[in-house]
Amino acid sequence: MKNRRDIETFVSGVKDLPTLPSVVLKVNRALMDNSATIDSVSSIVEKDPALTAKVLRLANSSYYGFSCHVDTLSRAITVLGFNAIRSLATTVSVFKIFGRRVVESFDMQGLWHHSLGCAIASKALVHSMGTELQEKAFVSGLIHDIGKVVIAQNLPEETDEVLKRLEDGDAPDMAEIEEEVIGFSHTGVGALIAERWRFPKEFSEAIRRHHGVAVSGNDPEEGLSVLTYAVYAGNQVAKDLGLGRSQNMRVKEVHPLVWEKLCLSVKTLPELFDGIKSDFSSVVNSWDLE
Ligand SMILES: [Fe+2]
Ligand SMILES: [Fe+2]
Repeated sequence: MKNRRDIETFVSGVKDLPTLPSVVLKVNRALMDNSATIDSVSSIVEKDPALTAKVLRLANSSYYGFSCHVDTLSRAITVLGFNAIRSLATTVSVFKIFGRRVVESFDMQGLWHHSLGCAIASKALVHSMGTELQEKAFVSGLIHDIGKVVIAQNLPEETDEVLKRLEDGDAPDMAEIEEEVIGFSHTGVGALIAERWRFPKEFSEAIRRHHGVAVSGNDPEEGLSVLTYAVYAGNQVAKDLGLGRSQNMRVKEVHPLVWEKLCLSVKTLPELFDGIKSDFSSVVNSWDLE
């Protein structure tokens, strides 16, 4: 792959690469090798009482829409599933990464909200395809731009140059400008970080391709997963609906064939987008992540 070695050299050389708590890495491993049971995942997560308390608080928020209070982790797993618990534990952990990393000239809170917006949109776009895929779309959407945070912190001059060119309107796509200025883009960096965080390969593919899903004529690109289409379209939907702020707020029109891949009819999109907007405002207003 083009520039792969350069990205790897860059990522390996970053001294304080963002990390996820070992609890989340262990949940990832358990989900990856299919060894997860309600007891095993509960006991992994409960090793971190602060994380457990936050996961339970979020599980009881209106976004998940339960009428009764869920007060134990094993009950939350039973009701929501392993993948939703991973989504919540990842959200709590990634929020801390965004909060801790301050970069001048970089709207970190705007990018965090954009990431949450992309997570909610990507999940909603696969609402008809089962809860496991929905939660995978949520996590991949949440971390799709994590490469931007790492690049901004470690290559500040290049980041300024990228943002300047973006403002000047040199090229429509931030990843293309990054390729020119840096030699690689936040999409590749994010994909490598997802691999290091032990998320499944399909997550890194979705992150690597979130700016580039080629569709020509009647022929959508073969071999891409539904997850990749969901995060690609979810990113555009988050921008289009003004959820948070990415550095590049220009919206690419999503090709009708991508909606088809997501089993969505263009006619139903306005209603779906209304639901995404209301989910986003409920999450931003009620999720206590501090
Ligand atoms: Fe991006
Ligand atoms: Fe984005």
